[in-house]
Amino acid sequence: MPFVSFLVISTSLNAKSRSRIMAHAAREHILAKGLSCDFIDLREVPLPFCDVAGCYSDPNVKDVKARIAAARGIIMATPIYNFDVNAPAKNMVELTGKAWQNRVLGFLCVAGGKGSYMSIMSLGNSLMLDFRTVIVPRFVFALESDIAVDGTLNNPAIGERVVELADTVIRFADALLPVSP
Ligand SMILES: Cc1cc2nc3c(=O)[nH]c(=O)nc-3n(C[C@H](O)[C@H](O)[C@H](O)COP(=O)(O)O)c2cc1C
Repeated sequence: MPFVSFLVISTSLNAKSRSRIMAHAAREHILAKGLSCDFIDLREVPLPFCDVAGCYSDPNVKDVKARIAAARGIIMATPIYNFDVNAPAKNMVELTGKAWQNRVLGFLCVAGGKGSYMSIMSLGNSLMLDFRTVIVPRFVFALESDIAVDGTLNNPAIGERVVELADTVIRFADALLPVSP
């Protein structure tokens, strides 16, 4: 796969996910700039648990890993569960490991309460130290109450922050991982 694309990953398995709404908004913004942008919805790509026998040759694991490796800038939209990303997000990272090496990554988080603001740091730290993933420092942290199930933003600032995050991922990727001419 050519190393030219951006990628948005939605990790919530909830049919009424708010973070998925932000994920689609980010992808639409990137596409509107004339850039290619892949989209992975983990609801549609069931993954085995990491280290179950045969997991690394699972077709979905190979597919997701190849699509991460093909992207120079990635946005992960994730719910906050138990002061961390949800289990499918962490499991995906465990399964795909080195595909994250040197990639630029921004986060779109949704949580029930403001107190979980720093919950994304655990995954961010791990990716930085393990794979030298370049984490965009200003992530989006929205509350469930900011976004209605139909996509209406109860807090309009969220839309602006999603756009700012997507633009920053593009800027970092262009600076650090420019597409060769
Ligand atoms: C198992 C579980 C654990 C959760 N843990 C937290 C938490 O630690 N902090 C928090 O603010 N919200 C927590 N929440 C609330 C979710 O972050 C919230 O529902 C969010 O909207 C989920 O994202 P989604 O709509 O994209 O699925 C939890 C929800 C569930 C189901």
